[in-house]
Amino acid sequence: MNISQLLKKTVSRFSAERLSTPGLDAEVLLAFSIDRERPFLYTHPAKEIPGLEVEKFRSLVARRMKGEPIAYITGRKEFWSLIFEVTPDVLIPRPDTEILLEEILKLSRQERAEKIRILEIGTGSGAISIALASELKNASITATDFSPNALAVAEKNAVNNKVGEKISFLCGDMFEPVEGKFDIIVSNPPYISEYEFGLLAPEVREYEPHRALVAGPEGTEFHRKLARDGERFLEKGGRLVMEMGADQRVAIEKMLKEKDYCDIAFRSDYAGIERVVLARKRR
Ligand SMILES: C[S@@+](CC[C@H](N)C(=O)[O-])C[C@H]1O[C@@H](n2cnc3c(N)ncnc32)[C@H](O)[C@@H]1O
Repeated sequence: MNISQLLKKTVSRFSAERLSTPGLDAEVLLAFSIDRERPFLYTHPAKEIPGLEVEKFRSLVARRMKGEPIAYITGRKEFWSLIFEVTPDVLIPRPDTEILLEEILKLSRQERAEKIRILEIGTGSGAISIALASELKNASITATDFSPNALAVAEKNAVNNKVGEKISFLCGDMFEPVEGKFDIIVSNPPYISEYEFGLLAPEVREYEPHRALVAGPEGTEFHRKLARDGERFLEKGGRLVMEMGADQRVAIEKMLKEKDYCDIAFRSDYAGIERVVLARKRR
């Protein structure tokens, strides 16, 4: 079969299965199966694909039909124009998290300090720390996760993206492995409540790591720990920047005000949903 025929057949199967992006999914899987980039498919629609590669493509299509996310099938995901390896041990980096990055870059560029010390709690694939390291020449970054398997993926991604030297990876629960003071603490913590978890798409619920997603009964349990324990690791005037879910503003604002934070601000994503909270430790 040629490229055009394989794509047409697969798009109609994916559409029948009600996948949200059938054309894109089919193209990504076919390009991956023949070890090419997607534009090759547009320029070579009549190219016949050898049987072995068709077999490989069919087995990937079967996985997708069962609901497995594309990023776990191909083992990679683009974030901040960088390529990240992803395995089922790590959350697939989301475009929403780029808002968090934009805010940290703004803050970092305002700082005059020679070195900015950044701590990330819960680094997963390393997406945030690696993107920051690739942008900020004057940053020293410490990134933690309690999952050794996730950290192994993050360390590999740091090396592949040529920032391995700039990030220290530490394994442990929240701040437990951390020492010293930081100018910025950043986290995209688990922030789904146990109830909301049941409402997630099966693609997320059944494939992504539960402990990367679910915080507890409220959904804001990790924000509370970050606000409470983060204070100790922040310099005076240092910033806490956290990703958050829709409808969490009131709870998070209250917990920050109960602690020693000021300049509390929220940023929305492109859909208008408040997605990031920023706060400053009082001087
Ligand atoms: C929502 S994911 C974020 C991953 C990555 N930073 C990103 O933005 O794609 C949350 C991460 O926190 C980690 N995590 C969960 N509980 C933790 C804990 N108690 N201590 C440290 N890390 C934790 C998970 O393993 C997961 O990698």
